[in-house]
Amino acid sequence: MPKISIVGVGPGAPDLLTIRAYERLRNADVLVWTDSLISPQIIEMASNECELIKTSVLTLEEIVPLLIDRALQGKRVVRLHDGDPCLYGALSEQIYQLTEADIEIEVIPGISAYQATAAALKAELTIPGVTQTIVIGRAGGRTGVPDKERLEHLASIGSTLCLYLSARHVEQVEGVLLNYYSENTPVAIAYRVGWKDEWIQVIPLHQMATISKERNLIRTTLYVVSPALNATKNRSNLYNPNYAHLFRPEG
Ligand SMILES: C[S@@+](CC[C@H](N)C(=O)[O-])C[C@H]1O[C@@H](n2cnc3c(N)ncnc32)[C@H](O)[C@@H]1O
Repeated sequence: MPKISIVGVGPGAPDLLTIRAYERLRNADVLVWTDSLISPQIIEMASNECELIKTSVLTLEEIVPLLIDRALQGKRVVRLHDGDPCLYGALSEQIYQLTEADIEIEVIPGISAYQATAAALKAELTIPGVTQTIVIGRAGGRTGVPDKERLEHLASIGSTLCLYLSARHVEQVEGVLLNYYSENTPVAIAYRVGWKDEWIQVIPLHQMATISKERNLIRTTLYVVSPALNATKNRSNLYNPNYAHLFRPEG
């Protein structure tokens, strides 16, 4: 049965690929990749004979037949997605159509932008007593979000909030967030994490829009809004001597 590998390549740094993703990429006969989102350093790892197909100017109606055509030729077809394919990757529509065409699919996970941002900051996003929840969301924009997922609702719980695809709407986003978080809540602005020109800064919420606009950040920017980013003293029960558990019983 013809097969296509859908591969998450992480945020941009080549050494953040999983071994499985690297292996699929190196052995690909055909690489189909979103050139607007995937760092060129990733593509440089493909073999010289590999056919490279960029998708930023193509529609789904053009991409899927290309994938099917190459797979039916018996080629090792690899569809690359930035970060993890399960987040904002237009994944399900591709899987649906490829499955309808009797193509076998495998999906290989990747490190998402929020994870790479937390690692770059050496930060935990779930600190006991501060926040135990991470909300992954976006401003509505042209795509829109279901009404119950409007930013007001996401922000109202005050947890760590990772906002993808939202830089174009940063003024509006800041305005909404200020109704729910204090103006000094730390916000990590992460531009092209893992790329050669990565830029990350933690600023107070009330400067989110000003600084984004000063740097002209529109694309490939993630916001991590989190009270955890300046909370250092709280500790978990996990390694607390007063807290017994299965692997460290009392006494
Ligand atoms: C179409 S979404 C894909 C998200 C991706 N699947 C992931 O898991 O990171 C693209 C958005 O993800 C975020 N993003 C992806 N890669 C990034 C990076 N290297 N640095 C900062 N933000 C990134 C930005 O918000 C960007 O607008």
